[in-house]
Amino acid sequence: MIRTTSLPAGELVPVLGQGTWNMGEDSRRRRDEADALRLGLDLGMTLIDTAEMYASGGAEEVVAEAVAGRRDEVFIVSKVLPSNASRRGVETACEQSLKRLGTDRIDLYLLHWRGGVPLAETVDAFEALKAAGKVRHWGVSNFDTDDMQELDGLAAGSAVQSNQVLYNLSRRGIEHDLLPWCRGRGIPVMAYSPVEQGKLGKEPRLGAIADRHRATPAQIALAWTMRADGLIAIPKASRPEHVRQNRAALDIVLTSEDLSELDKAFPPPARKRPLEMI
Ligand SMILES: NC(=O)c1ccc[n+]([C@@H]2O[C@H](COP(=O)([O-])OP(=O)(O)OC[C@H]3O[C@@H](n4cnc5c(N)ncnc54)[C@H](OP(=O)(O)O)[C@@H]3O)[C@@H](O)[C@H]2O)c1
Repeated sequence: MIRTTSLPAGELVPVLGQGTWNMGEDSRRRRDEADALRLGLDLGMTLIDTAEMYASGGAEEVVAEAVAGRRDEVFIVSKVLPSNASRRGVETACEQSLKRLGTDRIDLYLLHWRGGVPLAETVDAFEALKAAGKVRHWGVSNFDTDDMQELDGLAAGSAVQSNQVLYNLSRRGIEHDLLPWCRGRGIPVMAYSPVEQGKLGKEPRLGAIADRHRATPAQIALAWTMRADGLIAIPKASRPEHVRQNRAALDIVLTSEDLSELDKAFPPPARKRPLEMI
């Protein structure tokens, strides 16, 4: 069984999902990518993260292939580009995403990052989509603490269900204020690039801990991002062995000794740092 965490709305979602950035770029690889996602679903990683931006819609089409015949098992997260974040723009972008995803609803629809459209307008558009049943929940991505505070000040702002941000052992800035802010309000933080796009898989500083757990460095990095409640990790894996290793990382229990060793090698932030993005 995969551990779950609760959205503010009360719905439980798995703490380990699957990313799709770079999927759908090459038509010859699409079948393997969909197979990898399906393997992940079989192993219980039933939250899939995608976006209209990825492969200009191609990643959403790979997701459609992966979830065909089993849509109800899956919690689909997709994102609207800031350039489409106006009232009409969101409506059109969502329709197109739904078409590519081959579904009638997106479980969680995120604003990919902040752009020029007033936040209140985007939130109104999200609420209208929710009322129409086209999205079940909405949230944000790449929002720093001041953005979250601004959102919180809007009438419907408290309906936000998640903030998806860059978070891994080498990118711990959010621990200073954003993570505690979200935690305090029961808003799960979705950690993107949890293995730093593969780089933490080759990280010598993780070697000793990995050996102790008979695991790989990437698995330790991933286990670390899911070490506490309110954190969801969405690694992207197109190789089946990576999918299996990622699922297995959920069963790794890091000891307090491991955690303090990791704090020494990858120190937590001592002061506020602006949110980093990839
Ligand atoms: N909201 C945003 O702005 C934003 C930004 C970036 C990413 N994201 C989302 O977050 C997801 C994950 O981030 P990401 O794709 O940037 O990076 P990531 O998940 O940290 O890393 C993906 C890379 O790591 C490799 N990998 C996966 N599992 C591994 C394992 N167990 N051992 C060794 N290597 C492993 C993958 O290889 P293979 O593919 O060859 O298996 C791939 O090359 C994205 O796919 C996307 O859905 C969101």
